[in-house]
Amino acid sequence: MIPSVLFVCLGNICRSPLAEAAFRAEASRLHLDVVADSAGAGDWHTGDPPDRRAQATALGHGIDISSCRGRQVKAADFRRFTHIVAMDTENLANLHRLAPADATAELSLMLDHAGRPGQSVADPYYGDDAGFEVTWSDVSAGAAGLAQTLRARRP
Ligand code: 4NP
Repeated sequence: MIPSVLFVCLGNICRSPLAEAAFRAEASRLHLDVVADSAGAGDWHTGDPPDRRAQATALGHGIDISSCRGRQVKAADFRRFTHIVAMDTENLANLHRLAPADATAELSLMLDHAGRPGQSVADPYYGDDAGFEVTWSDVSAGAAGLAQTLRARRP
């Protein structure tokens, strides 16, 4: 089965689109077949493109995320994806609350995959542009660790 990973943050316009982009890039580098998507806990940014600072940060690392559109996480995601990766501990607690009884997805925190278990990717939304580089660095570390784990598990 091809691993399918949903990255979840609060608004789905800053951290999770960057996480999705970093993971796609890392999986491609490892020649790993994956499905990746992102979603938000809230619905404020449904249909919106990523925050312009997130778009600029991704572009600075060679990735165009302008076609991403925000959406809210839904019950079917817990059956459709093999992995759901939360950006912070609040997102993770929210996902545990939302998970239907027949959920099959494995839930984790992004930084669990970066050797920083239990830590959160800080929300850069209310900060300055420099915060987005920290986000990129965090999600890249998590994406690299997750992609390596999935490669090691490949049948
Ligand atoms: P994200 O950042 O969860 O990394 O996408 C946020 C974006 C928007 C809001 C909060 C966090 N907001 O409140 O609209």
